[in-house]
Amino acid sequence: MTDPTLLRFPEGFFWGTATAAYQIEGAWNQAGRGPSIWDSFCRVPGAIRAGENGDVASDHYHRWQEDLGLMSELGVNAYRFSIAWPRILPDGVGAVNAAGPDFYDRLVDGLLSRGITPFVTLYHWDLPQALQDRGGWANRATAQHFADYARIVADRLGDRVTRWMTHNEPFVAALVGHLTGEHAPGLRSVEATFAATHHLLLAHGLAVAALRAAAPRVPKVGLALSLDCIHPASDTVEDQAAALRWDGLVNRLYLDPLFRGRYPDDTLALAGPAFPTIQAGDLATISAPLDFVGINYYTREVIRHDANEPVYQIGRVNPVGNDYSMMWEIYPPGLNELLTRVTREYAVPSEIYITENGIPVPDGIDADGRVRDVRRVAYLQAHIAQVHQAIAAGLPIRGYFVWSLLDNFEWAQGYHMRFGLIHVDFATQTRTIKDSGRWFRRVIDANGLRAPRAS
Ligand code: FCB
Repeated sequence: MTDPTLLRFPEGFFWGTATAAYQIEGAWNQAGRGPSIWDSFCRVPGAIRAGENGDVASDHYHRWQEDLGLMSELGVNAYRFSIAWPRILPDGVGAVNAAGPDFYDRLVDGLLSRGITPFVTLYHWDLPQALQDRGGWANRATAQHFADYARIVADRLGDRVTRWMTHNEPFVAALVGHLTGEHAPGLRSVEATFAATHHLLLAHGLAVAALRAAAPRVPKVGLALSLDCIHPASDTVEDQAAALRWDGLVNRLYLDPLFRGRYPDDTLALAGPAFPTIQAGDLATISAPLDFVGINYYTREVIRHDANEPVYQIGRVNPVGNDYSMMWEIYPPGLNELLTRVTREYAVPSEIYITENGIPVPDGIDADGRVRDVRRVAYLQAHIAQVHQAIAAGLPIRGYFVWSLLDNFEWAQGYHMRFGLIHVDFATQTRTIKDSGRWFRRVIDANGLRAPRAS
């Protein structure tokens, strides 16, 4: 009997979890890994909550086999992880550290032997420090170094890995790393921000070509973007203009060059002379057709004009009476709104993945050993229902990845923000599957879920 209240997903839908190397691996100075900008940034006093760092993180570098077993317990058929550039090339360029590719080689084999499709991200923010010392993403040469690194990884894993993402959230890498200084490399420079933006995008385009040239099996190539659902705080002209400025900086500065081959005029004008020189051919490189696009969605942003905000006079509002997690507003309809907008306005590829979606919850283990993270279950259920709605409307969503597999090092927030389907006791590294992980398994087994009750 078919259950009419079950929202069923298409056959072959990818259900996965996502992680990033620096957030889970640890072993920061082991097996030949070079230092990254996050190793350096974590040592800056005051940069990270409680002075924490990713030196050990979830110790995945040593516990990857146990973690593979846990993935099988969750029942996922896909896993998105990132490769640590400084494990492959400790200096960013030059000699390959053999232990680096070996580690990912074993991980990929382990995934495949369990029927889990690897989705590999090449850059999830851990730039080799040696390249930062030469200017980092603000230096155009870094784009070519990234393409060289992509080729090395594709050479080694491309006989088995077919899903590749160049970058994770270039917007965050550029703006949070170079303008607000809350992430590595901790700069506060408008020039560095736009230089990093352009060079990250250029690096993406060069790496797309490198992956296609090097991988023995025809790869599917894309990237994961952090896109926002943005609403103006009011219908005043000022608030609407501020929302448009923010939309330009977060969304269109990436979507336009990738899918239209040009930067948005209003955002270029906003950047003014801070935008670096765009050389002939750059935009053609950046807009190389992709096989898929990944979208990371967490929240919406309500934006107002704020004359006191430096640089762009953009302020955020948290509407009273709405629902908030430890970090952001919980706003499921924003996901469908965003997907609808992106597919309507851009010639995006015919495969879309939700490459991240999740919520921090202050999870603790109860006396009976369970982690009752009911808020996470409600959050995931509401967002997966949005994905279902988008698919029902004809949008080509092919997979959904929960952020994250494990509790891990949440960047500037340290270990305080727990995003995992699996609880990690950081003192002992003991893993415990949370109620949300068991719930997710049931969704995967049913290839669908019960519609959330309307609130
Ligand atoms: C995203 C990042 C990911 C994680 C989540 C919570 O912006 O890509 O690494 O930190 O936020």
